[in-house]
Amino acid sequence: MRTLVKNIKELVQVEYQQRLRVCGKDMATLGTIKDAYLIVDGDRISEFGPMSELKEQSFDKEVNATGRMVFPSFCDSHTHLVYAGSREIEYIDKIRGLSYDEIAKRGGGILNSAKRVQEATEQQLYDDAVQRLEQMIRMGTGAVEIKSGYGMTTEAEMKMLRVIRRLKESSPLTIKSTLLGAHGIPMEYRGRQEKFVDLVVNEMIPRAAAEHLADYIDVFCDAGFFTVEDTERMLETGAKYGLRAKIHANEMACSGGIQVAVKYNALSCDHLEYTGDAEIACLLGSETMPTVLPGAAFFLNMHHAPVRKMMDAGLPVAMASDCNPGSSPSGNMQLILSFACVNYRMLPEEAINATTINSGYAMGVSDQLGSIAVGKRANFYITRPIPTYEYMPYAYGENKVERTFLNGVEV
Ligand code: NIG
Ligand code: FE
Repeated sequence: MRTLVKNIKELVQVEYQQRLRVCGKDMATLGTIKDAYLIVDGDRISEFGPMSELKEQSFDKEVNATGRMVFPSFCDSHTHLVYAGSREIEYIDKIRGLSYDEIAKRGGGILNSAKRVQEATEQQLYDDAVQRLEQMIRMGTGAVEIKSGYGMTTEAEMKMLRVIRRLKESSPLTIKSTLLGAHGIPMEYRGRQEKFVDLVVNEMIPRAAAEHLADYIDVFCDAGFFTVEDTERMLETGAKYGLRAKIHANEMACSGGIQVAVKYNALSCDHLEYTGDAEIACLLGSETMPTVLPGAAFFLNMHHAPVRKMMDAGLPVAMASDCNPGSSPSGNMQLILSFACVNYRMLPEEAINATTINSGYAMGVSDQLGSIAVGKRANFYITRPIPTYEYMPYAYGENKVERTFLNGVEV
């Protein structure tokens, strides 16, 4: 099947040479073509350029995009979107002044979701996740990383990972799966959390690997959660089983999480509210993508990661939704673009790079997704009529996506 999208007001994030990520001041540049066409052959992008260069040929389907722009789909490299129930009651506790930490200490937070996931059937978890994915597709997302982490027992973690595997098989989205066995410390392990780390190392990682249920391994390495030593044990075991790391780090404190991520060549380290000069120096020259989660910082009303400073130092930055019931109950990446600009003083070009090619890198798919390039997977969206690409972050809170194509097929 060959599809032509013609009269595109502006084709955004075009690339002629493959890049896996964009760093530092290059993040402020964005390749675009005004009055453009795009040709899709099967599930791939086969050609694009200015309308004046479009050659006479026949297509199975033609889309006239007059007044509209085309963007590569967002890559959402950090989500916890398999969960049961919602946590709006804790949200009220937070409004009344309890901290995330205090809620976690009294068994709320992650443990609250864990109880519900343990009780839920696989089918119910799957059905709820499908609905969330459908909403995300309508908002322009084309690739999603999904973590386990609300299991707390080996059985419940494997159940979550099986749900993610089923989503991979049935969804048009590109999905990556991450084992986050060490997300919280169950009550019965408080004061002897090394025993819980034993469980992750001796049971969860080997089982997830034996059943090919995970692409990556994650640990919540932060003050009040898992220590650097705990994290090292789990990442070492993960590496033995071929699982590359993606780490939750430095959300609560300068926890050493960034350093341990770099030491183990993690694909990404995420959150990063507490990032100082030593952490920036450590990330420079590494292959670890610093990933900021503006939805969680907004929802928890935290201070913001020093994104401007990181980019000025030459680092790449990725951004993802962190979609989860506790700290970021939204998978809307258009909103992330707006947060990026307003809260982190990113230019629209930087925000677009952070949510496409760089977040694609952070989930290991930027060779296939995250830009408009010949040979890449045809995951893109057509906007409704908009004046400029800067309008995308500017007009926050409304859906600017009109039509979505995944694997070359309109969904
Ligand atoms: O990425 N920081 C740790 N984990 C999640 C929160 C999960 C929850 O509160 O349920 C996060 O924000
Ligand atoms: Fe998270």
